[in-house]
Amino acid sequence: MWQTVIAIFLSLCKFISAESFETFAISQDSSFINITQINIELGNDKYNTDVNLNTLQMIRKAGYPAEAHIALTEDGYLLTLHRIPGSKNSPPVLLQHGLLCSSADWVILGRGKALAYILADQGYDIWLGNFRGNTYSRAHISLSPSSSNAQFWDFSFHEMGIYDLPAMITYITNITAQPLHTYIGHSMGTTAFYVMAVERPESAAMIGRMISLAPIAFVEHMKSPLHYLARFANYLGIIARFVGANEFLPQSTILRILAGYGCDADLFKEKICSNVLFLICGFDKEQFNYTLLPTILSHDPAGTSTKTMIHFLQEIRSGKFRQYDYGRKKNMQIYKAPQPPDYNLSNITTPIALFYADNDWLNNVIDVKRLYNSLTNVLDTYRVSFPKFNHIDFLWAKDAPTLVYDRLLQIMKR
Ligand SMILES: *[C@@H]1O[C@H](CO)[C@@H](O)[C@H](O)[C@H]1NC(C)=O
Ligand SMILES: *[C@@H]1O[C@H](CO)[C@@H](O)[C@H](O)[C@H]1NC(C)=O
Ligand SMILES: *[C@@H]1O[C@H](CO)[C@@H](O)[C@H](O)[C@H]1NC(C)=O
Ligand SMILES: *[C@@H]1O[C@H](CO)[C@@H](O)[C@H](O)[C@H]1NC(C)=O
Ligand SMILES: *[C@@H]1O[C@H](CO)[C@@H](O)[C@H](O)[C@H]1NC(C)=O
Repeated sequence: MWQTVIAIFLSLCKFISAESFETFAISQDSSFINITQINIELGNDKYNTDVNLNTLQMIRKAGYPAEAHIALTEDGYLLTLHRIPGSKNSPPVLLQHGLLCSSADWVILGRGKALAYILADQGYDIWLGNFRGNTYSRAHISLSPSSSNAQFWDFSFHEMGIYDLPAMITYITNITAQPLHTYIGHSMGTTAFYVMAVERPESAAMIGRMISLAPIAFVEHMKSPLHYLARFANYLGIIARFVGANEFLPQSTILRILAGYGCDADLFKEKICSNVLFLICGFDKEQFNYTLLPTILSHDPAGTSTKTMIHFLQEIRSGKFRQYDYGRKKNMQIYKAPQPPDYNLSNITTPIALFYADNDWLNNVIDVKRLYNSLTNVLDTYRVSFPKFNHIDFLWAKDAPTLVYDRLLQIMKR
């Protein structure tokens, strides 16, 4: 979810110069990263060969077989699943990315460290999903994904939960002729899972267990400055003016904005985005590998709908985990009630493990506790034993394998 604010910042950045922002960023807080230091660390070796590779190419380069599959949703979206196939009876595992991210998240850390590879080495059949609207899932049987096509972009994490996940799960279980051994979600990958598990219990029944990395259901106590945007949740007009009414900031828009600066896009992104990233997710210089930043930024933000963003802002504001709020009048038509219905989390029967961290600014421990209390079948809870661990560290921390993935593997073997 950090990319959200990179995106918003970058659109606001049209009005401030890169230099003044940088000065601001460095002077405001000594825990902001030291740009000079990063540039020294990056050295002359700034060219990172993974930057121009897509998920499939990254997997192959790491020495694993890779396949792409397309799953069709009930409402006509064509979703790309990337796969690192196992042997014949390998248990299938689905990894689902967060907001504005993609299947690439799970492999960026590289061989021997990235979760997808660690699981493949353990003999699992790895499936990496892509939600509608991201780089790999911008296709529909009849609708064009152009930013001006309101119909294509008329979705939030609700539709990802009720359509995308059931389509992927049905596809995987059909191909492998096995139930899904484990579903692993990061951030919005957990949100959409909870929606599915409540609204489509027949799909949830095909899943052995679910592991939530940085679980996002309740977001009322979010520490991230994203919080301040929530007051605009009901002013679609204002939001649309900054980020587009339908598609929320696809990659090309960022590149256009950067080009507008007439500056070196890579340099700009490295300098600004690493600061913004910490500002959104929590500061953790120790676990962040700056060498990965160009690769991360070449894949994310990967695109979603403005409606998804607004749905999250509504949840921050309302403090509830519930369906999209269309306003009183339209709510009456759609839900037959003035307020949108809550997702009833106590209806979930899939065993769920909750992994969370103290310094995750998007995911306050108070909100995780509330989620824990709402679920009836919690398998495990794990507060990462590194106080600075933040939202993105679940994917990209230097020590993610020892701090997070070891325990995750244990749960999967139970
Ligand atoms: C930033 O890093 C450079 C190089 O290591 C160092 O010379 C400089 O003093 C640092 N600046 C701050 C504010 O820490
Ligand atoms: C299941 O797989 C078979 C072949 O493997 C295919 O013909 C069929 O259409 C698939 N069904 C679904 C629902 O994907
Ligand atoms: C939620 O589901 C539980 C378990 O099925 C049920 O007891 C409870 O009444 C439901 N709550 C609401 C608000 O529907
Ligand atoms: C929750 O579970 C209860 C009892 O099984 C059921 O009556 C209700 O329809 C479920 N709610 C949802 C939203 O599936
Ligand atoms: C940082 O990332 C680079 C590129 O993947 C890798 O070679 C290096 O070992 C990583 N450093 C640490 C401390 O993980």
